[in-house]
Amino acid sequence: MNRIHIFDTTLRDGEQTPGVNLTVDEKVQIAKQLERLGVDIIEAGFAISSPADFEAIKRVAKEVKDSTVCSLARAVESDIKTAWEALKDAEKPRIHTFIATSDIHLKYKLKMSRKEVLERAVRAVKLVKEISKGRAEIEFSPEDAVRTELSYLYEVLEAVIEAGANVVNIPDTVGYAIPDEWYDRIAAIKENVKNIDKAIISVHCHNDLGLATANSLMAIKAGARQVECTINGIGERAGNAAMEEIVMAIKVRRDQFPVYTDINTTQIYRTSQLVSRLTGIIISRTKPIVGDNAFAHESGIHQHGVLANKETYEIMEPEDIGLKESKIVLGKHSGRHAFKKKLEEMGIQLPEEQLNEAFKSFKELASRKKEIFNIDIELIVEGLDKKEKDKNYKLIYNQAVSGEGIIPSATVKIEIPNGEKLGLAVGNGPVDATYKAIKNALNIGEEIQLKDFKIRALTSGTDALAEVFLTVEFEGINVSGRGVDSDIVRASALAFLEALDRLENRKKKHHH
Ligand code: KIV
Ligand code: ZN
Repeated sequence: MNRIHIFDTTLRDGEQTPGVNLTVDEKVQIAKQLERLGVDIIEAGFAISSPADFEAIKRVAKEVKDSTVCSLARAVESDIKTAWEALKDAEKPRIHTFIATSDIHLKYKLKMSRKEVLERAVRAVKLVKEISKGRAEIEFSPEDAVRTELSYLYEVLEAVIEAGANVVNIPDTVGYAIPDEWYDRIAAIKENVKNIDKAIISVHCHNDLGLATANSLMAIKAGARQVECTINGIGERAGNAAMEEIVMAIKVRRDQFPVYTDINTTQIYRTSQLVSRLTGIIISRTKPIVGDNAFAHESGIHQHGVLANKETYEIMEPEDIGLKESKIVLGKHSGRHAFKKKLEEMGIQLPEEQLNEAFKSFKELASRKKEIFNIDIELIVEGLDKKEKDKNYKLIYNQAVSGEGIIPSATVKIEIPNGEKLGLAVGNGPVDATYKAIKNALNIGEEIQLKDFKIRALTSGTDALAEVFLTVEFEGINVSGRGVDSDIVRASALAFLEALDRLENRKKKHHH
């Protein structure tokens, strides 16, 4: 059976999502989770686009061993040199070089002839070989292939394969293709490019018409053996093909797709949550596979059916994506052994020293908190390489008063790097008053806007723990925060402070 290579571009095309701006540490964290998920290739960035992208690729290249690490590069020498500089420590490096081939891009963007573009493409592929001394895998993309005249597309692909490209990636850059048409295009490439058997055919589909997953699947039917995608489908404009949808479609419909991927699907949910938390892009409830409602059955008829036999209305199980793990896992009496076992169960392996540190944090948390959830453990592990000095704000106390017939008011006391700050405010309700009090304490004005606010109960019962997940926007950048507490106002305050904290770290980094 044929293996489909999963090429993840969450850290490159996904990071091009408006409002998303990940720090180097956050990119490394996502890359390590992608490695755990089992993706074949991680496109970690576009090395020449910024010093931060360069640094992120370099760090990912050093820390990721199992997956191939890739940088994007335009078909010019400076891009390729910079990409190689960032990638050279990788165990399995790949450079993805591209140039547009459609007439509209040639005429208006590149102002080049077809002949010039073809020569530039071939030269870029050869340059990758030369500069990396044959160590880098070479992927070539004819950008806007969807609108490129077929005979010219064949010519370019044949030439770059002849020059040494290992993978030819066919992008639907503008999300324009319709599934059967896209199938025909990929099949035609397979049929008409003479040396196509010397390269892997890949596709890269955008979702402007909501067809990215469908088009990727049709490409697989036509012979593509690599698909490019992002977690949660994030990316430019309407985003890229969603990895979780493609992987689960292949798995659920094996009858239609006699292929497989190396993805460990039980890591899908965690990866999706991590990407959402770090990018600040909320997942829609009805998002296939990973949305809150993806496995929820609402109507009585459906519930009845599922109770009688799951398969009446379920084509896959929540466990397949790692969803229904036991919610309450550990408490303050749990020992080191149980803790280590739980980590293993979650697919997390830590060196001895980090394990000790994580266990200490766990004990500390367990002494304050009745129940420890998987998410808490994940946050502990995430925090391992975040030094305490990275934390700018700590909520010392908060108080809010609300009710009928009074004006809601709040006070907060916050520890900051060199002292404490007190804030007071009135508001529309206790959360609003608390946020205003925090803003007053920290001297923040209207430049920081609350964009999204979600609250939910993590456990059942009226004494449940509340989880607040929110996004704030500052100068076009989205930052998210999460807070958990039995008091919803405090959970809200913690989430807000976490977002402000991350914003502050980001600002510091930009100024250095
Ligand atoms: O959408 C696109 O064409 C791209 C290329 C760089 C592959 O992202
Ligand atoms: Zn793209």
